[in-house]
This record gives sequence, C-alpha cells and structure tokens, in this order.
Amino acid sequence: MKFKVEPVRGFRDILPPESEFLRIIVEKFVGVVKSYGYSELIPPTVELFELFAAKSGPEISRSMYVFRDKAGREVCLRPELTASVVRIYIKSLLAESKPVKLFYVGNAFRYEEPQLGRYREFFQMGVELIGDSSVYSDLELFLILRDYYKSLDLNNYSIKISDVGILRSLFTTWGVGEDVQDILLHYMDKKLYDEAIKTLNNYGRADIELLNEITKVRCENPSELPELTKSLSLPDEASRRIMRLYEVTSLMSSLGINNIIIDLSFARGLAYYTGLIFEVVVPNLNISIGGGGRYDNLVELYGGPPTPSTGFALGVERTYLALKGLGLTDRLGSGDKVMLISLIDNYAYVDRVASTLRSAGYVTNVRFTSKGKLGDIVGLASKKGYKHVVLIGEKEFKHSKATVKNLITKWQGEVDILKLPQCLRDC
Ligand code: HAM
Repeated sequence: MKFKVEPVRGFRDILPPESEFLRIIVEKFVGVVKSYGYSELIPPTVELFELFAAKSGPEISRSMYVFRDKAGREVCLRPELTASVVRIYIKSLLAESKPVKLFYVGNAFRYEEPQLGRYREFFQMGVELIGDSSVYSDLELFLILRDYYKSLDLNNYSIKISDVGILRSLFTTWGVGEDVQDILLHYMDKKLYDEAIKTLNNYGRADIELLNEITKVRCENPSELPELTKSLSLPDEASRRIMRLYEVTSLMSSLGINNIIIDLSFARGLAYYTGLIFEVVVPNLNISIGGGGRYDNLVELYGGPPTPSTGFALGVERTYLALKGLGLTDRLGSGDKVMLISLIDNYAYVDRVASTLRSAGYVTNVRFTSKGKLGDIVGLASKKGYKHVVLIGEKEFKHSKATVKNLITKWQGEVDILKLPQCLRDC
C-alpha cells in the first residue's frame, strides 16, 4: 500500500533550518520571560469544548476542532491557551500570592483558511499576569515585548493599541447586552462597520454619529489622545478609560516603546477582553505577529473570585516570518557549528574529542567516512553553514592531534586536541 506523504491541509512538516529558527525564537522568549519572574505552565492540548465556547468570540468558535471522545465528552483542540491557563489558575493556583505570573509555549489549532502565516496548527508563546489591575501590570507586558524584540534585533514593529472598554461602555449606555456587544466587536475586528451599524440601528439610544467620531480617533503620539477626544460627549467610564490608555501609552513612550498606534476603532477577535487590547504588527506582514489584552472578568466567569488579569500571546511561526521578511534570521545564529570527521573507527577517541568540543559550547556533528568521501562531507559542511571542520585520521590519532580547517578563512593546521576549543575560537 502506498501512503499519501502530504500532511493534512493546513498542517505543516517543519524542517531545518526553519525548525531550528523556531526553536531559537522560543528559547529567547523563555529567557526573557523567566528574567521577569514568570513560571511555566504546560496546559493540555485537549479541553472540554465548554471552556472555549463562552468567550472565544464568533470567529474562533466557528474555527474550533470539536469532537466527542470515546466516552462521549464534547472536547476540542485548544484554539489558544489563555482559557486553559485561567482554568488551571482556578483549579490549582488560587492560594498563590497575587499577581501570579505565568508563561507557556504550545501548539494551538484553528480551522481557518490556510495562507502564509495562517495555519491550522501553529505555536504560541505567551504570558498571563493574573490578579493585578495596576497600570504597571499592563506596562510590564510591553516591557517584556520591548526586551524580547530587542533580543531578536527586531526594531521595526509597531504596537496597535486601544481599550475595548471604551466601545463596551458606549454599547452598555445604549442598552446593548454583553452577547450583542461581543458580536458588534467581532464586526469591528473584521472591519464590517456596516453590519455593526445595522445591528445598532435596532437600539433607539445608539448614537451612530458618536460611534463614527470615536472610531476615527487614531494617533501615533500618546500626547495627542486627550486633545482628539476632548470634544466628544462620552460616558464617564469611556472618558476614564481614555485617560488610562493615555497614561499607559505615555509610560510606554517614556520607557523606550515608541512605535505605538492608538486606534479607537480597533477590536480583537476574542470576546473575553474587557480593557486594554493590543496587537503587534510589522511592515512586511499584513497579519499581526502577537496580540493580547486585559480580561478582568474571565476568572469570575469560570467560577473563580473577581480577578483582574492581562496577558498576550505571540505567534512563533509569524515571528519567524517577520524576521525572515526583514532579513534578520542570520542574526539568530545557533552557535558555531563544527563538523568532526573521522577517518578511523576509534569511537572512544572520537567521542573524547567531540565531548571536549561540546563542553566548550560547540555544536559538534560527528561523521565517520573514508578518504574518498571526505571532499563531499567538507562541501556539505560548508553548504550547511559550518564554520570549522575538524579531521581525525591515523596520523592525528597517533599524536593526539586533529586537523582543523576554517571553512570561511580557509586557514588549516594541526592542533593538539586539548587546545582545540581555543583554536576554534582563534582561527
Ligand atoms: P490571538 O490574537 O488570537 O490571541 O493569537 C495570538 C497570536 O497567535 C497571533 O497574533 C498570531 O501571531 C498567532 N496566530 C493566531 N492564529 C494563527 C494561525 N492560524 N496561524 C498562525 N499563527 C496564528 C490569543 O490567542 C490570546 N490568547 C492572546 C492573549 C493572551 N490575550 C490575553 N492573554
């Protein structure tokens, strides 16, 4: 029988070098979030469907992989990880002192139309900061992003930001219930303003003109926000939120995050957001590489106590695409690589040399070969980005030496094996 070797539509086989870059992208993220004191959670891939049904928003709900397991439970492959983190918080971490700072890296599944950067299985790396409503907790997310993107040399990103509570407070004043608010925000996220207005026309108190004015507010300098919104007759709650957005974005600017786009027409697909929302965008991709926001009611919705929370998730593959598009993947570097080629079958000796190199931090790929095939392997090493070839033959073995060849400078020489790490650093 002949098997189909193609993966299922929307799923991908991720091969080197992309797999290696994705790993580095994740490792750098883990390094940064750990340096901020976040601890790792590993949630399960399969959850009860009801966990996501309530507040995922119409688009993600429609694109979920839902099925019954053998015992008849309605389960789904997680479309994101925030809901699972909140569930785990309620189950196991309620007694922890707040805020609880958690991070995760994991796959997520959405049955969307596949295209560049949009897959049916993808990887997210994210943080959730649970149990804190302070301005600092919002700000810390951006400080993490600032440091993370700096570690990737990615300077060319912007943060699109708003507070979904501004629109929600207008809708509430107009008598629109939460479920319809979720639908309106979905329309706004998809830029279907006409649909939103059609729905609002059913509400006598809805002030469409005010909505039009609000959604026109857009600026790149936080100091312009109070002026741009001054003349609008907004409910107190909306004005209060605009002032908080102004405060957070001004602090962001003062702490080195200058690429901010405040856009009050902006909404996000997920329905659990209650306050600040944001997305990270880069010039060469028309899809966001990360997104997040404040979800102050989710813990309570799942049966826990009132717990203001915030967080974000970044797409691992989209981060890679952004770096690739900007020509930044070369800088990711996975450390210097050495091809250790042996022409003798002395495994113990070769292992000794390889161990010396690995403990000095060199990625060491061992190949046993014959003289006739040596050229091919050196050629391969060069093609695959190896900087050095270290060769062991009878003569080298006899004198506890190895021949080193720098594939970039073409320098070649015989070196005592104890001096190999230093030689690789210097020549
Ligand atoms: P999200 O915006 O739905 O937010 O997803 C976060 C990121 O996951 C996106 O910015 C994107 O980079 C990546 N992503 C989403 N869908 C796909 C896809 N089909 N293919 C490839 N990458 C994708 C959330 O998931 C929230 N849980 C974020 C959050 C955490 N909010 C608060 N805490």
